[in-house]
Amino acid sequence: MKIDGKHFRSIWRMPTGEVQIIDQRWLPHDLRIVTLATRQDFADAIREMWVRGAPLIGATAAYGMAVQMAADPSDDALRETWEILHETRPTAINLKWALDEMTRVLAPLSAGDRAAAAFARADEICEEDVETNRQIGLNGLEIIREIARRKGGGRVNVLTHCNAGWPATVDWGTATSPIYHAVEDGIDVHVFVDETRPRNQGAQLTSWELNSHGVSHDLIVDNAGGHLMQHGEVDLVIVGTDRTTARGDVCNKIGTYLKALAAKANGVPFYVALPSPTIDWTVSDGVKEIPIEERGGEEVTHVQGRDPEGRIISVQISPDGTPARNPAFDVTPAELVTGLITERGVCPATEEGLAAMFPDLKGR
Ligand code: MRU
Repeated sequence: MKIDGKHFRSIWRMPTGEVQIIDQRWLPHDLRIVTLATRQDFADAIREMWVRGAPLIGATAAYGMAVQMAADPSDDALRETWEILHETRPTAINLKWALDEMTRVLAPLSAGDRAAAAFARADEICEEDVETNRQIGLNGLEIIREIARRKGGGRVNVLTHCNAGWPATVDWGTATSPIYHAVEDGIDVHVFVDETRPRNQGAQLTSWELNSHGVSHDLIVDNAGGHLMQHGEVDLVIVGTDRTTARGDVCNKIGTYLKALAAKANGVPFYVALPSPTIDWTVSDGVKEIPIEERGGEEVTHVQGRDPEGRIISVQISPDGTPARNPAFDVTPAELVTGLITERGVCPATEEGLAAMFPDLKGR
């Protein structure tokens, strides 16, 4: 997608081979591009959220493994790199998916062949992500089109949570892809952007990217969604996901569950944009089985912003020493989900629905 009219992806390889990312900690205030050169750089970038969003975490891990293979292609390095990168963040399953995928390709090869094969597969994972998200956009577009038709061509109001936009993926985004496709299709779309405390990915990233692409939107506080739904101001909700179980329970950024409850209570369709690498076929009950990342309390007690001189600062908003809990994700049970927008089509959030859509992947 674009920043100031210039095409960008969230991760890329330079013609000289180095891997670069946008360091998302400083957005929307500063566009800082960094080169990740060592396995440790990649681990830090994922853990400290220079990159974030399930698909991008997976793509970054794939390149992290490739960079390590160029430095040391031994079996020990392959195993250790899987471990080091895997322990960076616990919830998004795309991380494990990408590391397993790299291991599947690399393990049978001789050490001398591994680096080139690793970069080739990591490049492919990125291209696959772009195409997957494009397809999710086209499939989600049909839902938005149908609502626009029902409203006689009137404005379609979409609520989204967190950032499941292009910075969370390699390109297009998952939840934003149907929105971008609808805008391209000439549909009048308006987006309500949840700020998404504590890290404010909605305020900092989603509103930034929608603004860059001229998509009509309002930033709202996390608690406003229910009110807007009650008053008929939201036609549908589309969110991303960090891990969706085989029966369709959806783990996503903290606060998603409350939006799903409000949507159910108000008869608002609640869709989840789901690329297949985000399905965890090994778990069923998301509430009991998905590990939820607990992050530091300072993300709750402080807020990052820009001061009048343009410096990026962190401001304390609670009394000194206030204890805080910071679960970063929650699970929306499948029965609250209207449908899963995948790259192959839209399916019900049920075991049967997912199995019918991905018969070749089920059981992995
Ligand atoms: O903690 P983050 O910023 O990595 O969490 C991101 C989200 O929860 C996204 O909504 C999710 O990964 C879907 S991204 C396409």
